[in-house]
Amino acid sequence: MAALVLLMRHPSVLNKVETELKDAGLMHGCEIPPRALTWADLGQLTYLNAVIKETLRLWPSASLGTWRRTHRDTKICGYVVPAGCTVGLCPCAVDINKAVYGEDAEEFRPDRWLSVQACEPECGHTKTSDMHNVKSLKEPFAFSMGPRDCVGQSLARMEMQVFLATMLSHFQLHLAPRMGSPEEVLSSIRYHITLCMPQGLWMKVVPR
Ligand code: HEM
Repeated sequence: MAALVLLMRHPSVLNKVETELKDAGLMHGCEIPPRALTWADLGQLTYLNAVIKETLRLWPSASLGTWRRTHRDTKICGYVVPAGCTVGLCPCAVDINKAVYGEDAEEFRPDRWLSVQACEPECGHTKTSDMHNVKSLKEPFAFSMGPRDCVGQSLARMEMQVFLATMLSHFQLHLAPRMGSPEEVLSSIRYHITLCMPQGLWMKVVPR
């Protein structure tokens, strides 16, 4: 849902997603009849996948994040955390960190994910062309990382890919007047265990 609002808020990004769907032969309402979305398409829709990552970076659905108990005294960023403490890792804090994502960390810019290149495989990080001095993350922190990360992440990603590709290729979407502007909808989002849009998301849906 956050992705749809962000696309309403950023028409140029929406336009790029629509062009990608059109080039892939998936868009309805064109001269050439569209084909059905397949499993193989999901990995090929590079820009749509960048939009999904960028949405999860700024609006992580599981906003409560990751919690761990320290087994021994542990030093984190120079601070000693005694054994037995509960440490919370907030995806919102990690993913808008300017040291990782640069000065525009708070901006919705899916293109940042297009320049991600693998560096030394053993380090588990990647570098992007516009972030030379930091080891940036290959994925947003939304699904957590390490041996206890989200076991449902592949399914969740696939659901987002299929939902967005299907909706955007079949329909033109507009926010319903009762929702106000995209900015108002984004500022109404509340952080609970998961993100919540208190009024839901009412949209005007026009078949292509
Ligand atoms: C956008 C959707 C989703 C997000 C953002 C998300 C995020 C997360 C996060 C942050 C954790 C905590 C990991 C940790 O403590 O390090 C988690 C755990 C988990 N998630 Fe998800 N999740 C999503 C969808 C799903 C789905 C669809 C399923 C199941 C089909 C699922 C199943 C689980 C399970 C079983 C765990 C516990 C893993 C463990 O403790 O070993 N999640 N998820």
